[in-house]
Amino acid sequence: MARILITSAIPYINGIKHLGNLVGSQLPADLYARYARARGHEVMFVCATDEHGTPAELAAAKAGKPVAEYCAEMHEVQKDLSDGFRLSFDKFGRSSSPQNHALTQYFAGRLADNGYIEEVSERQVYSKADGRFLPDRYIEGTCPNCGYDKARGDQCENCTKQLDPTDLIDPRSAISGSTDLEVRETKHLYLRQSLLKDELDAWISSKTDWPVLTTSIAKKWLHDEGGLRDRGITRDLDWGVPVKRGDADWPGMEGKVFYVWFDAPIEYIAATQEWADENGLGDAAWQRWWRTDKGADDVRYVQFMGKDNVPFHALSFPATILGSGDPWKLVDYIKSFNYLNYDGGQFSTSQGRGVFMDQALDILPADYWRWWLLSHAPETSDAEFTWENFQASVNKDLADVLGNFVSRVTKFCRSKFGEVVPAGGAYGPAEQAVTQQIAARLSSYERHMEAIEIRKAAAELRAIWAAGNEYLQEAAPWAAFKDDPDRAAAIIRFSLNLARLYGILSAPFIPDASAALLKALDAEDADWPQDVEAALQALPAGHGFTVPDNLFRKIADEEREDWQTRFAGQRG
Ligand code: MF3
Ligand code: ZN
Repeated sequence: MARILITSAIPYINGIKHLGNLVGSQLPADLYARYARARGHEVMFVCATDEHGTPAELAAAKAGKPVAEYCAEMHEVQKDLSDGFRLSFDKFGRSSSPQNHALTQYFAGRLADNGYIEEVSERQVYSKADGRFLPDRYIEGTCPNCGYDKARGDQCENCTKQLDPTDLIDPRSAISGSTDLEVRETKHLYLRQSLLKDELDAWISSKTDWPVLTTSIAKKWLHDEGGLRDRGITRDLDWGVPVKRGDADWPGMEGKVFYVWFDAPIEYIAATQEWADENGLGDAAWQRWWRTDKGADDVRYVQFMGKDNVPFHALSFPATILGSGDPWKLVDYIKSFNYLNYDGGQFSTSQGRGVFMDQALDILPADYWRWWLLSHAPETSDAEFTWENFQASVNKDLADVLGNFVSRVTKFCRSKFGEVVPAGGAYGPAEQAVTQQIAARLSSYERHMEAIEIRKAAAELRAIWAAGNEYLQEAAPWAAFKDDPDRAAAIIRFSLNLARLYGILSAPFIPDASAALLKALDAEDADWPQDVEAALQALPAGHGFTVPDNLFRKIADEEREDWQTRFAGQRG
């Protein structure tokens, strides 16, 4: 038994996530967490909402709510949806938690003590009416390039030109509209990650088992365009973690907060602390996952994220950890994903394009989405969601193969033998052959799950289901029953045991259907099989069960067309 720490990239607070976000981090992380638990490992699985930064402030302003209130509400919304998708986090925390405030300030203090923080003077726009410095995108004005009068200080939305706030003609505050702006000298903190470049480079190079997607992005950032740059880690915002050096004030940093990307990964640690605090467990309980001097030296730490998140996890967060000089746990494996596209284009939150988590659950149960998304995870290249493909996978894999097998076996048994595992006959060569086939496939399923090769694991699971279906088709208990009821009994006994095995093996992918199946078979205590032959005798003759409701329904063409139209435009 091992101890496995699993984190999923923490979703931004502003708005409900789409299926592309879900399959890029939280859902595969959940698959792995469920699998690891099923194999008897001790797992700590955390996620959170990423609540700071300008996008949060802007979304709150748009919703007409104080930002703290907006974040509290949206956190609940996201929490409910992750429950709806059965994401089995030990803790779904908040980056705005007091624990994260304290830890973020602590890390900044340690980094400063160790010489990894530089104070840099910058000239920045100050608004007297608002009484604050304005971040670039809080300044509006006329674009010098195209004349668009609502260009932002960082970029013109109309002609896409990258801008500097001082380029704008007639600049004004986007908060108050005030034009009483001036350029003032102000200080910001930079994380001197360039000093850690060689150490990071050696560390990444030692990770020969990491996905190419992860290491290639990390190497690019280490070496392209002059190499790893120091990074500003403070911002002029009201909402965020106030800049402090540990517990102490930081002279010159009054009114500033840490940059969202500085505090967000620290929330992985803080969320574990939130979990411990909430359960009254004390510091040792979370530190044994995160501090190598407190027991975390035998923890395997695995992170899940979309490819755009790789630089922050492979370089910046490790720089924070290494620079602290403390024995914090570094990540052992980074699983990253390409993008999922939607029907010939991109999923887009800002344009409301695609299917969002709430909409998905409104039309079908979580397992249908989980199966499609995981079995099409964008691992080696981008993937595409189309309604046709979704319909075909659900109807074929879930309804025709798995669902149909369970339904035929349980119903046939009920009609001929009653709702009890039949006695009589013995397993013969046909059963032995399937047992061997499934044992081989199971070990490859396990290998793929351990290597987090999700599509390959899904394909193997599908093949394990199909093997049962083919066996049943050939063994044909309905025919055998007439001349040789004992033979039919053995086939059905074997098939009911196969159904139980499917309930166990499928649970990481489709937890609800698996639970319903195991419940109907009165086998809820089922453990992961150590030996397939023994597992296929677990339900003895005389064991009672009930015929489960249809595990999966098929998606009809009209329904699919209806959804296709409904989700073609923008989300309202
Ligand atoms: N909120 C970011 C995103 O959705 C991910 C943050 S991950 C963390 O892209 F490491 F910062 F926590
Ligand atoms: Zn422009």
